[in-house]
Amino acid sequence: MKVLVTGGAGFIGSHTCLSLLEKGYEVVVIDSFVNSHKKSLKRVIDILKLNKNINNVNIEIMELDIRNENALDKLFFEYQSNGNSIDAVIHLAGLKSVKDSLLNPLTYWDVNVNGSINLLKVMNRYKCRTIVFSSSATIYGISSNESLKENAEIKPINPYGRNKVAIEDLLNDTFFSDKNEWKIANLRYFNPIGAHPSGIIGEDPMDVPNNVFPYITRVAAGILDKLTIFGNDWPTLDGTAIRDYIHVMDLAEGHIAALNKLIECDHQIMNINLGTGIATSVLELVETFERVNSIKVPFEFADRRLGDSCKVIADNSLALSFLAWSPKRDLEEMCVDGWKWQLLNPTGYK
Ligand code: NAD
Ligand code: WQD
Repeated sequence: MKVLVTGGAGFIGSHTCLSLLEKGYEVVVIDSFVNSHKKSLKRVIDILKLNKNINNVNIEIMELDIRNENALDKLFFEYQSNGNSIDAVIHLAGLKSVKDSLLNPLTYWDVNVNGSINLLKVMNRYKCRTIVFSSSATIYGISSNESLKENAEIKPINPYGRNKVAIEDLLNDTFFSDKNEWKIANLRYFNPIGAHPSGIIGEDPMDVPNNVFPYITRVAAGILDKLTIFGNDWPTLDGTAIRDYIHVMDLAEGHIAALNKLIECDHQIMNINLGTGIATSVLELVETFERVNSIKVPFEFADRRLGDSCKVIADNSLALSFLAWSPKRDLEEMCVDGWKWQLLNPTGYK
């Protein structure tokens, strides 16, 4: 089975490609490398060769912008002409910074939404109608519920979140235009952190990180002075905000579970939360990181960050029952693996 992974060189993409290859899928990656390095996929190949003694890793990598419909068409055409069609797509390519999306909404709509429209047009043309899409918990409105079910209110508050909703709508409309053809999984990720336990691949933000975990690893490494914790007056036990952190390898394996489910099932569309369902405050995250890695993470408190929620936790019961998937790595492993990646790669892939 040949799977096209868009954005496959990125943080989640590289870990997902590794999982796919480990399970014996043939992988084709397209990426513009606007937020990733070609080295990430070379490292994926290294891991496979190290662990499995495999000489021939079945991956092809191409520099391609998903906004370029002609190039996408050519790619699908060439595989089809060689009798080696693309069977399914895992669609991760896109821009992901909430802050940047507020500054550059047109670019975000163009890359994320127009890029997805192009991809779907070409998939439809070549009758490749199985897609796993990387959606986000960011689409849910602020909620007072303990955890978020897939039918919780959809109310994004920034362009990035609205892009994700638009793409889910697009996929929904596409599905209902021809119910007998499409198989679609919208995976709504919560907060992916950590790295592959080898420390060979991991998250490598191009700039000063916006997200808390890569910020923590850089503070621990002495690259950044201290962590600023946004708000210690939230209505939580220690006053800091609560999130559902999930190990990136568990997330990667969630894609394989979703893909397998789509392959075996009839045509359908599914919206599925990928999280652990476990609540962790920012202070708990920092304390766990310090304890398991025996290292200090200096921090200071500041005002709440604009647009932040107090608590974002997945109700992951649908993923557990329907995908027969469950997260296997705990917060300690996320902290150990993420720190190993930082230690072994102080300048990321550079
Ligand atoms: P990432 O930036 O590491 O990966 C995205 C990849 O897409 C990068 O390799 C980038 O170069 C590529 N890309 C960007 N624009 C492109 C274009 N026009 N054409 C082709 N490739 C392009 O981010 P990630 O954390 O791996 O996220 C992957 C997907 O998951 C994104 O769609 C993101 O919105 C979504 N997501 C991420 C998180 C998270 O916290 N990391 C949470 C929820 C959803
Ligand atoms: C987590 C907690 C911050 C940085 C974002 C996107 C979401 C999804 C995942 C893509 C919050 C606090 C953070 C810092 C801090 N991405 N924090 N100091 O905001 O839950 O989700 O990434 O889809 O769309 O919004 O993740 O890691 O930024 O923040 O105190 O320097 O850490 O206030 O409580 P978030 P995050």
